[in-house]
Amino acid sequence: MRQCYIAGNWKMNKTRAEAIDLARGLVTALKGGRHRYMIAPPFTSLDAVASVIRGTNIRLGAQNVACEESGAHTGEVSPLMLKDLGVRTVIIGHSERRHLYKEGDALINKKVRLALKHGFEVILCIGETLEEREAGKAQEICGSQTRLGLAGVTGDELDGVVIAYEPVWAIGTGKTATPEDAQGIHAFTRVTVAGLYGKAAAEKIIIQYGGSMKADNASALLAQPDIDGGLIGGAALTVDTFVPICLV
Ligand code: 13P
Repeated sequence: MRQCYIAGNWKMNKTRAEAIDLARGLVTALKGGRHRYMIAPPFTSLDAVASVIRGTNIRLGAQNVACEESGAHTGEVSPLMLKDLGVRTVIIGHSERRHLYKEGDALINKKVRLALKHGFEVILCIGETLEEREAGKAQEICGSQTRLGLAGVTGDELDGVVIAYEPVWAIGTGKTATPEDAQGIHAFTRVTVAGLYGKAAAEKIIIQYGGSMKADNASALLAQPDIDGGLIGGAALTVDTFVPICLV
């Protein structure tokens, strides 16, 4: 199998002590692993986890980022603050941000552009709800989230962008998209990127799949030609469930 990009989104889980414990376990288990790895602990554990994974093959990610650098934005975390902690990747537009916290495409795009300006790798999440899928709108939604999320992003900046296709109905539900269904949207997303940035850029961009990815379905998903990695939620919370995915 080619090299993949496997990322763990810890969401709102883990105290500092628990985060350190998990990060230590991953450092040991993933040493020498042949894929690219990233973990995104909650903001409160970034500093602690940064110390554990510094100098290893695991990069540090944040689950969100503010759309401004500083100022009166109570409760937000600036890209400058994340950079200061050693964060190199930011997840933007996760479906939980879009649906639970009502982040729209314009705000997501503002975050994407600011994060790229500060040199972060951006994981832009896209994905349709069950209702949208059943209405035959999966491609339309994913296409528009891709185009609006990347509006104003230059071809050079695109090198710092990863797209994560996370069908909302598959997140935390135990329902995984079949490898063929996921492949269909991944291929479509690559065509969308080709339309915006050309074929070479589209071939290069990493498109991760997320949504109930587990050790027992990871190989089949990652074997698809347009699935270049995984963004893992629940299964990223223990060494025993995450490492087998990382070592497929
Ligand atoms: P689950 O793996 O728990 O379905 O979550 C996926 C996800 O949302 C990762 O960002």
